[in-house]
Amino acid sequence: ADTKIYRASTTAPVNIAVIKYWGKRDPKLNLPTNSSLSVTLAQSDLRTHTTASCSSSYPSSDSLLLNGQDQDVSGARTQACFRELRSLRKQLEDQDSSLSKIADLPLKIVSENNFPTAAGLASSAAGFAALVRAIANLYELKQDETELSRIARQGSGSACRSLFGGYVGWNAGTQADGSDSMAYQVAPASHWPQMRALILVVSAAKKGVSSTTGMQTTVATSSLFPARANETVPRRMKEMEKAIQERDFETFGKVTMMDSNSFHATCLDTYPPIFYMNDVSRAAIKVVETINAAAGKTIAAYTFDAGPNAVIYYLEESEKEVVGLFKAAIGDKEGWTGTRGRAVEANIAAL
Ligand code: PMV
Repeated sequence: ADTKIYRASTTAPVNIAVIKYWGKRDPKLNLPTNSSLSVTLAQSDLRTHTTASCSSSYPSSDSLLLNGQDQDVSGARTQACFRELRSLRKQLEDQDSSLSKIADLPLKIVSENNFPTAAGLASSAAGFAALVRAIANLYELKQDETELSRIARQGSGSACRSLFGGYVGWNAGTQADGSDSMAYQVAPASHWPQMRALILVVSAAKKGVSSTTGMQTTVATSSLFPARANETVPRRMKEMEKAIQERDFETFGKVTMMDSNSFHATCLDTYPPIFYMNDVSRAAIKVVETINAAAGKTIAAYTFDAGPNAVIYYLEESEKEVVGLFKAAIGDKEGWTGTRGRAVEANIAAL
């Protein structure tokens, strides 16, 4: 019998949304209530490295190891990704009898994050994007990033955007089967290579309310939510795409901050309310406001996901003003710098 180990590796970076995905119109397929847009960080900064392998010599069930720890793969999200990828491999094997029959072999996935997983950063986006890409490589699938993004979306919504680099949109779509709900590249990173992200780890604790639960409660109870999903976000998606095309940081920054505020307002308007930001998060907002007031224009923009950690976008030319003031505020707290200074993480307990 063939006991060969088939193997493929890949990496996928973290993405941080500037127009947030919040709300599912179909929780099973991870279909969103609104489109979203993000910046994919550099591979050298925050990313997941994943090796997918399969062999008849493996134990009969699929397995996933993340940073050396066994993960549960029985969840519907992971199962959906495995099922879709296997079915595409089967199609190939049916078309070409010279291909090895590996679609039904047990899968072993080994993933490593190059950043602290416990830090509460958007790790599921990079995680599912790398998982899908690695298995697609292992199975030698012909599907492009757009089609793979449709599969990664079923693992974690935001993961569909990590299949692309640079500036990435996720079209909400209108189809009930999700066939038009996938990611697309707005512009490659090289279009606006001066963009930087400063990541401030306010708390390393796991988020209090999971994004799935939070979204469901917000959609069900927030009276602000319909206006955000149906009017505000569609308008801002257009403004944001235009700002990126024109490399207009002032608009990019302003819309980023307003969308973060809008998302967290619907969280506060959820019943019972959801608080993702804390006093340190609000102090980080104040620092950004001070920086922009001193510059007389928007040179720094904050955004917060489903947790208290701040991501500050700025342009390379403003590095001194932005990072300088944060460093002064943070003091000598522990931290690390991305290889190209593109992402800096500072562990801050207080500002
Ligand atoms: O992909 P999820 O289910 O982890 O949801 C991510 C939600 C936000 O990070 C808050 C926003 C976004 O668009 O990434």
